[in-house]
Amino acid sequence: MVMVRRVESHDEAVWVGLMAELAALHGCATSLENIAAGFRFAVGHPEKFALFGAEADGSLIGIITLNLGHYSIWTNTWFGLIEDFIVAESHRRQGIGSMLISRVLEEARARNLSRLELYALRQNLPARSLYEKIGFESDSFYYHLYLR
Ligand SMILES: CC(C)(COP(=O)(O)OP(=O)(O)OC[C@H]1O[C@@H](n2cnc3c(N)ncnc32)[C@H](O)[C@@H]1OP(=O)(O)O)[C@@H](O)C(=O)NCCC(=O)NCCS
Repeated sequence: MVMVRRVESHDEAVWVGLMAELAALHGCATSLENIAAGFRFAVGHPEKFALFGAEADGSLIGIITLNLGHYSIWTNTWFGLIEDFIVAESHRRQGIGSMLISRVLEEARARNLSRLELYALRQNLPARSLYEKIGFESDSFYYHLYLR
């Protein structure tokens, strides 16, 4: 049985392992030390991040983060950002990703966020299909500029 729960400090090793896989999939140059430091920052700042994990047989097999986002001046509301979303390969296509997203939607509504955003690589068709099934829409280009 799979249950979704909050991620806690003791989940660090598994969380970092899953994130390293996600970073590799996205060609992101980082290190296990950086990911672990990021994990500690996020867990230490519950006012900024809500971290959830799916657990099966006592192990974390999927994770997702709700970044509690930024204040939108023109709407006078807060927008949230979904990040750090991955399900272990052995457990994909069993509805676990959908469970994690549902938990994030529940949290976002409870926190009165007005909008959720996320970034998906153009070629990431599994993730895009999941998002679009839920109702996410895309009407913009996403640009980024590396500063260091
Ligand atoms: C994206 C990801 C989290 C989905 O997790 P999952 O547990 O497999 O998702 P679910 O089983 O809940 O699938 C829900 C829907 O997503 C879509 N989907 C999931 N995997 C798919 C695939 N390989 N091909 C096409 N559609 C897929 C389907 O619409 C699916 O519904 P269906 O099974 O009824 O057809 C998982 O594939 C993953 O970890 N990918 C690598 C990391 C990643 O890309 N993260 C997102 C970064 S933006």
